[in-house]
This record gives sequence, structure tokens and C-alpha cells, in this order.
Amino acid sequence: MVQAHKHSLRLTLQRSIDDSYDIVFGFDIFQEIGDWLKTERLGSKHAIITDSNVGPLHASRLEETLQRADIKTDTFVIPAGEASKRAEVCLDIIGQMSQRKYGRDSVILALGGGVVGDMAGFIAAIFNRGVPFVQIPTTVLAQADASVGGKTGVDLKYGKNLVGAFWQPKRVYIDIDTLKTLPDEEYVNGLAETIKHGVIYDRNFFDFLEEHMWLILQRDSKMAFQIARTNCMIKGSVVEIDPNEKGLRRILNYGHTAGHAIESLSDYKMPHGHCVSIGMMIAGRIARDFGGLSQEELDRQERLLIAAGLPVTIPSHIPDDDIIEITLLDKKAKDGKARYSLPKRIGEMNDYGGAYATYVPEGIVRSALRATR
Ligand SMILES: NC(=O)c1ccc[n+]([C@@H]2O[C@H](COP(=O)([O-])OP(=O)(O)OC[C@H]3O[C@@H](n4cnc5c(N)ncnc54)[C@H](O)[C@@H]3O)[C@@H](O)[C@H]2O)c1
Ligand SMILES: [Zn+2]
Repeated sequence: MVQAHKHSLRLTLQRSIDDSYDIVFGFDIFQEIGDWLKTERLGSKHAIITDSNVGPLHASRLEETLQRADIKTDTFVIPAGEASKRAEVCLDIIGQMSQRKYGRDSVILALGGGVVGDMAGFIAAIFNRGVPFVQIPTTVLAQADASVGGKTGVDLKYGKNLVGAFWQPKRVYIDIDTLKTLPDEEYVNGLAETIKHGVIYDRNFFDFLEEHMWLILQRDSKMAFQIARTNCMIKGSVVEIDPNEKGLRRILNYGHTAGHAIESLSDYKMPHGHCVSIGMMIAGRIARDFGGLSQEELDRQERLLIAAGLPVTIPSHIPDDDIIEITLLDKKAKDGKARYSLPKRIGEMNDYGGAYATYVPEGIVRSALRATR
């Protein structure tokens, strides 16, 4: 009840939310999506949002399964690539949806990689002040990471993911068979976040990746299944404890402070996974000098990244000064100073009093940047 005070009224708006959801794994599981949406009745109009590469490969199969379940759909297509991850492109899709009479009863199905997932999720968060959405990730990266945890958003010219919202999906469907059409370089790109999960959280998973990298690179589907499941288990465990990134969730940013800076300085031409891989080498060296990681474990990280086919050095055309300047815009930055999430050893991060990120003297950052050339 609104409480009246002499010069004010107080609106009490406490709420408890249950955002729990299932992540469903399988092979060729589009049929299940139609069946589930039919029973779940999240809304009456369903919009598939995809990109110009994934749409022609997978959207018609999804449309057909939904039609068989008597669910009407339209497909909205974003030009493929990170350069599309902008607010204007989201508003354009929202305009197209409104034109086709999509309203509050809409459900959004994000079919694609992390770019589609982040954008479709952001559209779901703001369209009609929020509509339900389902993630159907189709890249190793999106199945390992981006589709889980409810972070949605777009980039600005000032940096990545600077506009966004926490908006959890109603469900995530991880169909390993969609990876069959993924180009090799995108497959490898997704392994960066996978290796990151081993370093930040799970020593056994890191050992497993070391042992099986040759099989993973042959694109063995059982391996892909197991990796996706372990990745989601790790990310899910972190997100459950800290959904809004007040502390522990920052460990997922390992490699991303410098990594995002490099990505932005490459005008988003370098793939996210490559930038994270280089960023992990920079942060790994900072951790060796400032966070307790041993040289031997740093070498293991480097060997595994190289074995996966990921880059471990900063491209020569990107100067240290520019990287340092951009890191000041990073979302972990505080009081205008960049902060880094740093491992203590493989499988365990420094907690820095619960902040899981720390300031690092510029001299140490500069020496790590110099060594990553
Ligand atoms: N929200 C989060 O928590 C989170 C976490 C990690 C990364 N991200 C974001 O994810 C994005 C990177 O994701 P990504 O690497 O998946 O990039 P992406 O979505 O651009 O996909 C990579 C390329 O693969 C193509 N593709 C996707 N699936 C395919 C398939 N099955 N067959 C053939 N081609 C296919 C795409 O069209 C694109 O060209 C970045 O914007 C990053 O910021 C978000
Ligand atoms: Zn990432």
C-alpha cells in the first residue's frame, strides 16, 4: 500500500522473481521446440530472428516444425556479423515486427550465433517493455557461453556491449547438429571461451581439453555435446550465484578487458574468440606478475590456446597505448581505472574481497602487453 508521509508518498515495490529456465541439449531437436512452444503458450505471435548466413541454412526447418505445431511465424533477418550489433539494427527489426502487427503477445526465437542471441535478446527486453524469448544458439561460442546467462545488448562506437539489459531466456535449445554447417574458423573461435571456462573454474575440464583437443578439432559430435554441456554447467553455476554481475560473475570476463579493447580497435573485424584468446594471454601474464599464476600454468594455457588454433599475440598494427585507453571504458572499470579478473591457478580465480576484479598498476599491464607481441 502507498504510504503517505508529510511531503512524500512511498511506493513499496519489492519483488521476488523466478527466472529459472532449462537448457535442453540434443541432436536434431527442432521438433521438440515446436512441441514445447505449443504446450507452453508463451505468446500468440512468434518471431524468428536470425542472420543472413544462418537463416538460409536453418530457418526453414524451424519454421516448418513450428507450422506443424500450428504456430504462426515470421522470420526477420539481420545482416551477419558483429558490425550489425547496433541499436539502429535492433530498432529496424522492431519496426518490421510492428509493421507485421507484432505486439505484447510476441515471442522471440533467437536462431544464430552470439550476435543474433545478444540482439534478439535485447529486442525481447525492450520490445513492448519486454517479451519472452528462446535461445537457439548455432555456434560453438553461443552454445558454450553467449546463450546462457541473460546478458543482452549491442555495441557503440565507444566500445562493445555498452548498451544492454539483463533479460533471461525462457529456455535454451542447444542442437549440436546445427554446428555441422559452421565454418572451421568459427568452430575454433568458440573454443576460446571453452578454454577460459577451464582456467577460471574447472581444472579437470582444462585437463580434459588438453587431452582431447585433437578429437575436438576433428569436430567429433560426442565431444561437441560434452563440451557444450560442461560449458553451460560452468557458466550456469556462476550465473546462479551472481546473475547481475556484482562479484563472482566477473570471472567470466577473464581475458575480456584487453580482449574487448583489441576487438574494438580492429573495428570488430577480428573474431571475438581470437580477441579473448589474446586477452587471456595478456591477463595471464598480468596474473603471473600480480595474481599468483605460475609460469608453468601460464605456459599450459598458451600451449592449449595454440593447440586449438587460436592466436596468442597482439596484431602489430594495434598499439599498446590504444589498448590501455580503451580498457578504461570497460564495464569493470571503476573511478576511470581498468580492472582485471585474474586466475590464482588453473581452475581458480582470485576473489579480491568478493569483487573478483582488481586494479593493476599500469607498468604491469604495459609489460604484459609488450610480452604478448
Ligand atoms: N551474452 C553473452 O553472455 C555473451 C557471451 C559471449 C559472447 N557474446 C557475444 O557473442 C558474439 C560472438 O558470437 P559468435 O562468435 O557466435 O558470432 P556470430 O553470431 O557473428 O557468428 C559467427 C559467424 O558464424 C555464422 N554462423 C552462425 N551459426 C552458423 C551455423 N550453424 N552455420 C553456418 N554459419 C553460422 C554467423 O552468421 C557469423 O557469420 C559477440 O558479439 C559477443 O560479444 C555474448
Ligand atoms: Zn566472450
